Amino acid sequence: MKYSLSDRDSASRFAADMIAAAVRDNPEIVLGLATGETPIGTYRHLIRLHRDEGLDFSGVTTFNLDEYIGLGRDHPQSFHAFMRQNFFDHVNISADRIHLPDGLATDPVAYADAYEDAIRDAGGIDLQLLGIGHNGHIAFNEPGSPADSRTRVVDLTADTIEKNARFFDSVDDVPKTALSMGIGTILDAKRIVLLAFGAAKAEAVLKAMEGPVTVDHPASLLQTHDDVTFILDAAAAEV
Ligand code: PGA
Repeated sequence: MKYSLSDRDSASRFAADMIAAAVRDNPEIVLGLATGETPIGTYRHLIRLHRDEGLDFSGVTTFNLDEYIGLGRDHPQSFHAFMRQNFFDHVNISADRIHLPDGLATDPVAYADAYEDAIRDAGGIDLQLLGIGHNGHIAFNEPGSPADSRTRVVDLTADTIEKNARFFDSVDDVPKTALSMGIGTILDAKRIVLLAFGAAKAEAVLKAMEGPVTVDHPASLLQTHDDVTFILDAAAAEV
C-alpha cells in the first residue's frame, strides 16, 4: 500500500494517525521504532495526540531498531538520547517497556541474541516504523544483508557514515559499527510502515516497491511481506 501526501508534515500527521489508531485498537501494542530525521514529525504528532486527545501509551511496549556501538545511553548522539528527546520524554510510556539495543553491551553478540529473545517474549512486533537509506538500507541493514538476518553487530558503510556525520562534530566521530535488528527481525513484524521524504529518497523508494527483490537493495525485501505501507511526501513519490 502506498500513500503519497503533499508534504512532509501531512505525511507525518498521516503516519501518526495510523499509529494512534493502532494504539487505540490495542493499548498493549508492541511498536518497533526508528530514529533519523524522517520519523521526527511523526513523533511530534503522536506527542500532540497524547497531549490534546489523551492518546495513552501506558500499556505500549517499544523496541528500537538499532544503536551505535560505543555510545552510551546518555551520549547526545546515541539513539537512546534521540528517542528520549523526540518522543519518550513527552508521552506516558513506562520506562520498563522501552527497549533499545545497548551500545555499551560488554558482549554485543550475546546481547543481540537476548534482544531477539526480548522481542519474542513480548509477543513479537505488531507495528514496525521504518525509514530508508539512500542505498536502500533499513535499520542498519546495509546492502548485502541476508534476508534472514537477525539482530547482530553490523559494519556501517562509508555512505551511511558520511550521511550520519551531520549529527556529529566530524565524520571521524561517527561510530563504524552498530547493533541492528536484522531484515528477518523486521520482516517478522506483523505490520510495517515505511516513511520516506524528499527527492533524494525517491529512487530508493521506487526500487524498494517495484525493483527486483535483492539483498543489494535491502528495502526491496519488504516486497516479501504482506502488510507494508509506504507513506511518502510528493518528492519521494516522484522519480
Ligand atoms: P533519515 O535516515 O531519516 O535520517 O533520512 C533514514 C535511514 O537511514 O534509515
